[in-house]
Amino acid sequence: MNDIILQKENHLATITINRTKALNALNTQVLFQLEEVLQDLKKDDNVFVVIVTGAGEKAFVAGADITEMKEFSVFEGRNFSALGNRIFREIENLEKPVIAAINGFALGGGCEFALACDIRIASSKAKFGQPEVGLGITPGFGGTQRLARIVGIGAAKELLYTGKMIDAAEAYRIGLVNKVVEPDKLMETAKTLANGIAENAPIAVKLCKAAVNRGMQMDIDTAVMYEADIFSQCFSTQDQKEGMTAFIERRHKNFINK
Ligand code: CAA
Repeated sequence: MNDIILQKENHLATITINRTKALNALNTQVLFQLEEVLQDLKKDDNVFVVIVTGAGEKAFVAGADITEMKEFSVFEGRNFSALGNRIFREIENLEKPVIAAINGFALGGGCEFALACDIRIASSKAKFGQPEVGLGITPGFGGTQRLARIVGIGAAKELLYTGKMIDAAEAYRIGLVNKVVEPDKLMETAKTLANGIAENAPIAVKLCKAAVNRGMQMDIDTAVMYEADIFSQCFSTQDQKEGMTAFIERRHKNFINK
């Protein structure tokens, strides 16, 4: 799996897209490798939080692989889009928070990859954009859908129609990223955030993710009922007993993900 590096350290897993010769562009092979890694993480109860990043100094992911797409038929284009969309939905639905540590270019499929994550931290050198229209195509890995949901319709349409690149400061201003840090602080910041999340009850964190993601698709009455359902589920966990007992006994909590 040399295009994807998976590292696990305590409750944290880091996925690095490692195809630096093509600025970590996503081709079919990389996407299948990413899917395999996600299957591993899905099953690993010891991993509470995931970070994704790109290898090298220059790029997070510079998009879907243009060399591969150039001669696509309509059928191949559809399959490639379906594959990317399936995998990014797996990230969005993974029952653990996923943090994108965006170290450089996040263009096209790279921006879409970051959009499928829960939280985005950018290096001050990162650049964002959906340049697809300049290649004669639309985004195909969810960009036309998630960008508008995250930054709003106006800002999304401007990025989609112009294909222009924006810097990290502008990405922060429009709400595309949660935070911008100096390049040498990127992984440290992402890991501090991840470890802070990992100190909390993993089932409660997982249910927060589901509540936000699913609730956003519902009307508010259904959504708050859904929240009541998941809130009540927490009372069947050992971690709820531990969290509340530790608070009352004024001692350190020891969550076990059960
Ligand atoms: N696909 C394939 N190869 C890519 C690539 C991509 N998306 N992006 C960069 N590369 C390759 C380049 O072809 C080049 O390879 P060679 O050395 O073999 O020529 C290598 O990576 C380095 O790139 P550059 O020489 O272009 O580096 P640069 O510093 O001059 O420019 C860049 C950097 C601005 C990111 C430029 O590479 C670029 O514009 N890349 C394409 C970005 C893009 O359009 N992404 C969207 C793709 S479409 C998409 O993603 C569709 C979808 O939603 C599914």
